[in-house]
Amino acid sequence: MRSSRILPLAASLLQVAAALDAEALTTKYFGNDAPWYLDRIPLFETSVAEIQEVYYYRWGLFRAHQRDLGADGFLSTEFINDVSWQASPWAILINAANYHLREGRWCRDRRFKEDYARVLLEVNPATTQFSEVISDGVWQGYLVDGVLEDAAARLEAMQTQFGVWNAELDVGGYDPSKEMYYIQPLTDATEYTIASIDASGGQDGFQGGQAFRPSINSYQYANALAISNLAALTGDKALAAEYKDKAENIKALVQEHLWNSTFEHFIDRFYVDNEYVNYWDPIRGRELVGYVPWTHDLPDDDETFAQAWMHIIDPEKLAGPHGLRTNEPSYEYYMVQYRYEGDQRECQWNGPAWPYQTTQALTALANLLDHYPNSAAAGIVTKADYVAILLQYAQLHYNPHYDGILNIEEDYDADTGEPIVGLARSPHYFHSGFVDQVISGFVGIRPRADDILEVNPLIDETVSYFRIEKVLYHGHDVAVQWDASGEQYGTPGLHVEVDGEVVASSATLKRLTVKNITRVAPPEIDRPIALSVQLAQDTQYPTGSVSVSDVNPADVHFVIDGRVWFYPEIQNWWDSPTGDGSEMWYQIDFGAATKVNRAEIAFAADAESGFDVPEEYRVQVNTGDWVDVEVGEYAAAVGNGITSVQWEGVSASQIRLLFTPKEDVAVRLVEFKVF
Ligand SMILES: *[C@@H]1O[C@H](CO)[C@@H](O)[C@H](O)[C@H]1NC(C)=O
Ligand SMILES: *[C@@H]1O[C@H](CO)[C@@H](O)[C@H](O)[C@H]1NC(C)=O
Repeated sequence: MRSSRILPLAASLLQVAAALDAEALTTKYFGNDAPWYLDRIPLFETSVAEIQEVYYYRWGLFRAHQRDLGADGFLSTEFINDVSWQASPWAILINAANYHLREGRWCRDRRFKEDYARVLLEVNPATTQFSEVISDGVWQGYLVDGVLEDAAARLEAMQTQFGVWNAELDVGGYDPSKEMYYIQPLTDATEYTIASIDASGGQDGFQGGQAFRPSINSYQYANALAISNLAALTGDKALAAEYKDKAENIKALVQEHLWNSTFEHFIDRFYVDNEYVNYWDPIRGRELVGYVPWTHDLPDDDETFAQAWMHIIDPEKLAGPHGLRTNEPSYEYYMVQYRYEGDQRECQWNGPAWPYQTTQALTALANLLDHYPNSAAAGIVTKADYVAILLQYAQLHYNPHYDGILNIEEDYDADTGEPIVGLARSPHYFHSGFVDQVISGFVGIRPRADDILEVNPLIDETVSYFRIEKVLYHGHDVAVQWDASGEQYGTPGLHVEVDGEVVASSATLKRLTVKNITRVAPPEIDRPIALSVQLAQDTQYPTGSVSVSDVNPADVHFVIDGRVWFYPEIQNWWDSPTGDGSEMWYQIDFGAATKVNRAEIAFAADAESGFDVPEEYRVQVNTGDWVDVEVGEYAAAVGNGITSVQWEGVSASQIRLLFTPKEDVAVRLVEFKVF
């Protein structure tokens, strides 16, 4: 989609080559919620239709998982609603935090990743809930926005978080005799791996199976390097050296002990020692987790380690026809189902394709292709593999259990592409990345700490064009465009634009580097604080209530829980009775006089399904008496988007949204957010 034709190349070198139509694209993908995205996301299009569609779906997923905590700002959730094993009341789950931060680093509104980094490192009480790569996530965010003070503000908490793994805990930790980290697969977010199944004698594998894994050791390597790199930038040489040493020590030990030359793969060694398995023995098969060292640039660039990449393209091994397998069909307990909820299959990692680890494998492959010249020279994997795996991953998002709509769930059968778990909690699961793989891999913007802008698209001839723009990089607006023939944009070749000017071009696909992109401050973060949010049901003020009786308190709570999405697949709303001409209300009680001047109302609408925006609505406050707020004219109510109301600031102990549903249809109230 383009809004303007362009001049021939010669005459236009210093001008924007082509511009995407922001209004049209955001409206196409987000309907009435488009305003949320308009200034927040980079615009993207490509000849590979599914990658384009899923790119926008993933921004929708990102938006849906931004939970407003009120005073603590936003965090990213993993499950879209509460689950029992989260850190409550926030709904913190730290295992996917690195993906959330790496997706969030491309959001032009830096608030989300900045608030989230603070919540993860300074609010979260469950620091060893799961293995994590939080500090690296902060560093990766810095590489895109270039704002040192915000990342440096986390430096002390990053060291504390790094240190929680240095104890010898049951679920995971540090073994001083090996100077390496071990983890229980469940605590590594990957229950039922080879280690935990074999440590149970093939009987189970949900818990137990502690092992020295490529994952946790690579995570701590990345976290240590993040601390070291940030410390160096703040001038703390001693701290930089201390953590560089830690990182180098982990790297050497992973290469020495977790590389298995028989399998030509990084694999686990057991920490647990019992009747079935022995401490320090290697596990007996290859797993996808063996690529995580490259996700974090750990391995040396040599031909020995490069051999591991044969397995990711081998259909007998990790390359399923519909997704990357988490371990190989040759494993004795491959795809054996152990755990159920009712008669529904539960999460396991003994073969299913997991977006979680597919994301890691794609980042690993991008790193290999981008900056492992010796390994890439072995020619085992190529850019064609990167595009093919990214496309295969995009295709998993089209959910056959939901009429093929975009709806990512936990895990998939790699042979059929069918979702496996499909529980009530599963829809629209944010446990992986995709935007980051598109921007840093497919498009190939390689974020750096220095003032060089580097672009190296990892695409082959199956991609005839792409264009991305409004990428906020070191405070500049960056666009990248590829057009193999010139038919899409009028200008063939690869072009990089900074702040609207073409600064580098190539007739063919290759790496382009632009020197001296001096960083400038990105726009200031705007941090309005919602006063209406209540994280847990039935606690203190603010509380929600409604004018009608016989309601489920959980439904009433949804309206002030800080979550906004319009997916009909999973409830996040209170449905009013159907309209009979009478007015009803949703009320928030603040418990004390509170200054309020604005509301964001989220109505869902689907007239065919029996709910729609109200016929009329208004806002009242209790200032001793109930009075209408002073609004000139109420904007028309918007379905599946935000209806904003602003009034003269007033101090009130309670506030009401009053509305009259249309005849015979309900009002579906998703959120009533008050500022
Ligand atoms: C690799 O792991 C297998 C399976 O545990 C083991 O039999 C083999 O000896 C290991 N190879 C080396 C070189 O240690
Ligand atoms: C880099 O950019 C700055 C600011 O735009 C300019 O003053 C400086 O001369 C440039 N340096 C080089 C080496 O081009």
